[in-house]
Amino acid sequence: MTLKDHRVVIIGGSSGIGLATAKAAIAQGARVVIAGRSSEKLEKAQAEINSESLQAFQLDNKKEEAIRAFFKQVGSFDHLFTPGASYVRGPVTADTDIAQSCFEGKFWPQYFAAKHALPYLSKQGSIVLMSGAFGQRPLADGASYAACNGAIESLGKALAVELSPIRVNVVSPGTIRTPFRSDEGEAANRELAYEAYKQMCALKRVGDPEDVAHSVIYLMTNRYTTGSTLFPDGGYILS
Ligand SMILES: NC(=O)c1ccc[n+]([C@@H]2O[C@H](COP(=O)([O-])OP(=O)(O)OC[C@H]3O[C@@H](n4cnc5c(N)ncnc54)[C@H](OP(=O)(O)O)[C@@H]3O)[C@@H](O)[C@H]2O)c1
Repeated sequence: MTLKDHRVVIIGGSSGIGLATAKAAIAQGARVVIAGRSSEKLEKAQAEINSESLQAFQLDNKKEEAIRAFFKQVGSFDHLFTPGASYVRGPVTADTDIAQSCFEGKFWPQYFAAKHALPYLSKQGSIVLMSGAFGQRPLADGASYAACNGAIESLGKALAVELSPIRVNVVSPGTIRTPFRSDEGEAANRELAYEAYKQMCALKRVGDPEDVAHSVIYLMTNRYTTGSTLFPDGGYILS
């Protein structure tokens, strides 16, 4: 199976992993809808992809009503991918709003996306949720973030059972070179984190968005895979 003539919705498709997945899906002949908060990022993605097969919508996925209205506007489609997330990570001693931001910015948006997509999602279609390898191998500064990723992997299994024959899977990347939170003056820390990651994973390199997009396209197109989590992480959780 390929994505030819399928319609794919990517919430968080204007940058990084979501954008790479949009490009890969369009290359297979899919029609793709991307969504995100910033009209600037959406326009930049549209200019970069430059295809009539791409549609873009503004959406803040922290608002359940906005998610419901978004799917109504989009109409019927075949595959959902939900990498859009906004949160901050901190140790267990950090302020409560930091701890809660992971669930508010990453878990609940995906839960409600799956819920409100259902009336429009093909029974032969699929959902791919976004987790992160930190859920399997945490470092010492993100208890809530690790727990959130663990919850997303459990949600994927539960939805695979509840929504069958719709297939539901999860992708859980290691560290990937993307613009995630690059607007928050973290460039120097980020380069240090990339160097550290190279030593922590078997393949000794940071991943590219295309590495994850490849896993997501596999999960959308393999007709016998459901309830699985894939780890495009260069061997981070093994090392
Ligand atoms: N990069 C990594 O190393 C890594 C590792 C493991 C897991 N992940 C996961 O991968 C996901 C995406 O990360 P990325 O690295 O590709 O980041 P990115 O390049 O910053 O892309 C994030 C995308 O999500 C959208 N988004 C953010 N907040 C949103 C909101 N409230 N409503 C709707 N859309 C929103 C962004 O657009 P707007 O800002 O315009 O809304 C953008 O399109 C996150 O869930 C992250 O936890 C990343």
